[in-house]
Amino acid sequence: MRRWLAIIALFAAMLPAGSPPGSTAEILLTESEIAKALSHGPWPLPGARDMSNRASGDPSAIMLGRQLFFDAALSLSGQISCASCHRPLDGFTERKPRAMGFELQDRNTLALLNLRHQRWFGWGGQNDNLWAQSIAPLLKPDEMGFREDRLVSILASAEFVEPYTAIFGPLSTHSVTESLVNAGKLLAAYLETLETGRSRFDLFRDALAEGDLVEAATYPQAAQRGFKLFVGRGRCSLCHSGPLFSNGEFHDAGRPYFVEPGRVDPGRHGGIEALRRSPFTLDGQYSDDNERSEAWAVRTVVQQHANFGSFRVPGLRNVAQTAPYIHDGSLPTLHDVVDHYSNIDLERLHADGEAILVPLRLTEAEAADLVAFLESLSGAPVGGIPGPN
Ligand code: HEC
Ligand code: HEC
Repeated sequence: MRRWLAIIALFAAMLPAGSPPGSTAEILLTESEIAKALSHGPWPLPGARDMSNRASGDPSAIMLGRQLFFDAALSLSGQISCASCHRPLDGFTERKPRAMGFELQDRNTLALLNLRHQRWFGWGGQNDNLWAQSIAPLLKPDEMGFREDRLVSILASAEFVEPYTAIFGPLSTHSVTESLVNAGKLLAAYLETLETGRSRFDLFRDALAEGDLVEAATYPQAAQRGFKLFVGRGRCSLCHSGPLFSNGEFHDAGRPYFVEPGRVDPGRHGGIEALRRSPFTLDGQYSDDNERSEAWAVRTVVQQHANFGSFRVPGLRNVAQTAPYIHDGSLPTLHDVVDHYSNIDLERLHADGEAILVPLRLTEAEAADLVAFLESLSGAPVGGIPGPN
């Protein structure tokens, strides 16, 4: 490690002095910035089976889950499927600011990629596992709703009956709630397979890790300057850290949280409330992990006033494909997000102790560099079976 850092320093020193920036391929990062670049990989991350879901990793469950995902018959009206909002061709999200089920929802549709590496689900972290989050829209009458008879007839159909029984046992022995949870586990088995591919940034990061400076230097100069801002003056990587570009926790990024006059989105505060009430957590009776090895998180979570207006730090992989942005979809483009951080209104920060964020007052060129870096985090979706449309 030390050795190639020394080699990079040597390489940098050999570059012709005074050459105008951007004219030649060169590495603009300092040693400590290179170390930070390495911390955002490698990608893809190895993924373990979800112990709380007996269907996790089972090939027939993945196929059935995919079937359910595209099946509008699951919904109360027979017209809305998961894919109506999570559109495969739009990065498993949609272009609307806020989702529309039977009624307008309060929040922007989250993209369904790289979910197997997450601990909390939803903008407020209202679920601690993927199968519970996968049935949440069915349990909400104003989002999808569901009809018990339809669910049972799908699960009992010729296509489902055999693999369902092999995984969960005979349907006839299951209550409606158990059947619904099992449908959630099939959906989760499918969703786990959806991952983002390797991005331009990953090639840069791995070239640095391998000491391949020629390859590393081909990463665009604007993206390199943007990365320097991201880990430096912008302090973005304090929250958007690691291979997912998220610490997985909840923060106040200074966006307004009124849904309409007189009504707020409580964010993490409401998420913790929901976790406390939910029978579907990793600590509850529907988890297949008898050891409850991951249940410590939900057991130890503490609700504080500062959780109001805090939302889950979104991962930034494929972020260029998931506009509009923020929990309520109120920022249409990445330029708008960067402008928000550049001119952040400190009065807006409701949570205490978020002194990390200060108005950055970026020049237009700096803002463009930061956007160039964010755009370099995209890779074509890989793995999984994206499915129709
Ligand atoms: C009406 C639009 C709509 C439909 C239909 C819908 N979703 Fe969602 N989905 C959303 C919205 C909005 C969010 C963010 C919810 C929140 O934070 O409260 C979300 C969040 C999620 C998440 C959490 C992702 C994360 O990063 O934490 C999962 C998983 C998910 N949906 C799966 C599904 C599945 C499975 C279905 C079908 C059974 C479905 N959704 C149907 C709009 C929809
Ligand atoms: C204090 C932690 C924190 C810091 C520092 C931070 N962010 Fe964020 N970021 C968040 C949170 C939380 C959200 C979601 C806010 C919301 O929904 O209200 C977010 C949202 C975003 C989004 C929108 C993603 C999406 O899918 O909607 C982008 C892009 C983003 N941040 C980039 C940046 C950049 C660039 C910087 C540095 C200039 C930065 N962030 C600094 C916590 C942070």
